[in-house]
Amino acid sequence: MFTKKTIRDIDIKGKRILLRTDYNVPLKDGLVTDDYRIKKSLPTINYLLDHNCRIIICSHLGRPEGRVDPEFSLKPVALKLAELSKRSVKFVSDCIGDEAKKAANTLGEGEILLLQNLRFHPEEENNDDSFAAELAKLGDIFVQDGFGVVHRAHASTEAITHHLPSVAGLLLENEVSAITSVMENPKRPLAAIIGGAKIADKIEILGRFIEIADFIAIGGAMANTFLLAEGIPIADSLAEPDSVSVAKDIIKRAKKKASDRPFVFYLPQDGVVASSVDKTAKTRIIDWSAHVIADIEHYPKLPPESERKIASDEKILDIGPFSGAFIAGSLQLAETVVWNGTMGVTEAPGLHGPVGPFAHGTETIIEAMLGQFGHRPYSLVGGGDTAGYIEDRGLVDSFDHVSTGGGASLELMSGRKLPGVEALENK
Ligand code: 3PG
Repeated sequence: MFTKKTIRDIDIKGKRILLRTDYNVPLKDGLVTDDYRIKKSLPTINYLLDHNCRIIICSHLGRPEGRVDPEFSLKPVALKLAELSKRSVKFVSDCIGDEAKKAANTLGEGEILLLQNLRFHPEEENNDDSFAAELAKLGDIFVQDGFGVVHRAHASTEAITHHLPSVAGLLLENEVSAITSVMENPKRPLAAIIGGAKIADKIEILGRFIEIADFIAIGGAMANTFLLAEGIPIADSLAEPDSVSVAKDIIKRAKKKASDRPFVFYLPQDGVVASSVDKTAKTRIIDWSAHVIADIEHYPKLPPESERKIASDEKILDIGPFSGAFIAGSLQLAETVVWNGTMGVTEAPGLHGPVGPFAHGTETIIEAMLGQFGHRPYSLVGGGDTAGYIEDRGLVDSFDHVSTGGGASLELMSGRKLPGVEALENK
């Protein structure tokens, strides 16, 4: 249950609303290339417009390190927001000061103003109280709707709440409710698919899933470090040798859990390997578990043992077909799937269309989650690169919940308190 007040719980009619969004979106050549976060902010904006509010939006974009840097200007976002909301959106070149104050004070009912990047001021990330007081002069009520940034204690997420009545927007409420209800009360069996590059980013969430999930599958470059920990040769694959002891500890905890109750912790048993991430590179499938196929009579002649091993210049770039099939099959038994991190190097471009040579494992899992093999579990997708991939594939509306937050969704799933949520008024 969401315990914080939202815009539905207070009188907002005709008020000046200082709305914090997370418009940290990718840009290329001055244009927004992924508008998912902007689209997801529209229900709150429309609700405020329906109540004749004057909306003053603040956000960060990128990490300009406290300096004005035109590369991180929110101007392109103002244009995209105008297009998506079908309203004109005013823009000012600073988030505090006379220009911002004048624009906020002269804003009419139902008008929208977007302020320039908060992070052009070092005070934002320093959670500076005087800076928050300046921001607070622009509105009567503060509405937090930037789910992607509420794991940061910054001036526009924490200090600001000391200066204005502060409540949640509809996106924040929806994100926190969806994620906490899956983590606290999932429909079982609960499966977690965890990929991506670094173990360090996922230690806490793995610990939490070892406690609550029925099935965990590991993929992505992170799996290579687990394979190293298991003594499986990974040749030139990306891995974190410094995290091998962490991986060993996680495997130990998982084995202990599996001896206490029915629980599967699955590491890939095969992989797609190549000597470079290149769409024309020669790919091979290596099965390091290699236990069954050699026994099957009439099976096409296998290559010699030496060719079935990863070569010293090869890298594991995706999970292999056996692993994909095993995970997909397991998802057919699950009622809830939480997915964070792709299974391979999905960003490598394809030779024949959008799916690259190292995206097949991820694609198989997507098909399983979306019910292509019969059963369709509830699917919750963590933000960041995972959400980016399914947006590129045009599948973002096919899942039950795709989070707009990368770090924020990971922290919430790990059971951490989010400072930007904690600071809001209780119901
Ligand atoms: C994100 O994209 O994860 C959020 O906007 C937070 O950005 P940050 O990691 O730069 O604080």
